[in-house]
Amino acid sequence: MSTPAPISTAPTTRKKVTTLTLRQKKERGEIITMLTAYDYPTAMAMDKAGIDAILVGDSLAMVVLGYENTLPVTMDEMLHHSRAVARGAKSALLVGDMPFMSYQISVEEAVRNAGRFLQQGGMDAVKLEGGRERVDAIRAITGAGIPVMGHIGLTPQSINQLGGFRAQGKTASAAKRLVEDALLLEEAGCFSIVLEAVPARLAELISKKLSIPTIGIGAGAGCDGQVLVTHDVLGLFDRFTPKFVKQYADFHKEMQKAFADYIEDVETKRFPAEVHTVGMNDKEWEELLKEI
Ligand code: KIV
Repeated sequence: MSTPAPISTAPTTRKKVTTLTLRQKKERGEIITMLTAYDYPTAMAMDKAGIDAILVGDSLAMVVLGYENTLPVTMDEMLHHSRAVARGAKSALLVGDMPFMSYQISVEEAVRNAGRFLQQGGMDAVKLEGGRERVDAIRAITGAGIPVMGHIGLTPQSINQLGGFRAQGKTASAAKRLVEDALLLEEAGCFSIVLEAVPARLAELISKKLSIPTIGIGAGAGCDGQVLVTHDVLGLFDRFTPKFVKQYADFHKEMQKAFADYIEDVETKRFPAEVHTVGMNDKEWEELLKEI
């Protein structure tokens, strides 16, 4: 039996963002904002801050679950975190990232797994990686009424083929292939495309050629929107920070300091103080002492 879609409890004051909203933002020349989230409080905070779209990225594997790359994360793990995000965010467009091997084996499996993100994960859309080789799957998923965000350039699920986390589209022939892929994905029905780690001038060219919005990560300012991995933005992921990231906080350091302060307070009996304890009135106390 499938788990029912979660009901968000977050208070909201803005209208729900849809795929159409993103398209209209591009048409008006307004920039689209997207960040990743994997849990309820983070999703709620960024939704309240006014983010357009939240991606439950398969970067979950690395920044939350501690794996070396994105390949090990499963559909069930992605759905578990999608549900938490859906409970926290009421207004942002929610995009579930299809994990490695959830859409590559067959078009049928791709549609079934995409459907699970909406039915069981509370997502509004899915994202999947790849160019021309994904056209059949994208057509079938969008044909089932599920909006698809494409993802080309550096596609982390293919690091073994790409030879690591490296920028893509730097030669004329590789760039031409990416332009062709972007056009094919638009034609197949994608509502938007992530461009990761490609030259800024190439991303700008692709963005101008497409009617659907591009969302860049390490792809310069010429894209229609920007996305970053939230754990990079907050300084929560200590292993490495890609060159294209702007870090807005150092939460790893903050957390370590808070934990060290807590340990010291407990060890020196500064915590818990009177204010943190439950009281008992004298009469009840005397009664107790008489009885034991
Ligand atoms: O998984 C992820 O976080 C992503 C972004 C880098 C776009 O795919």
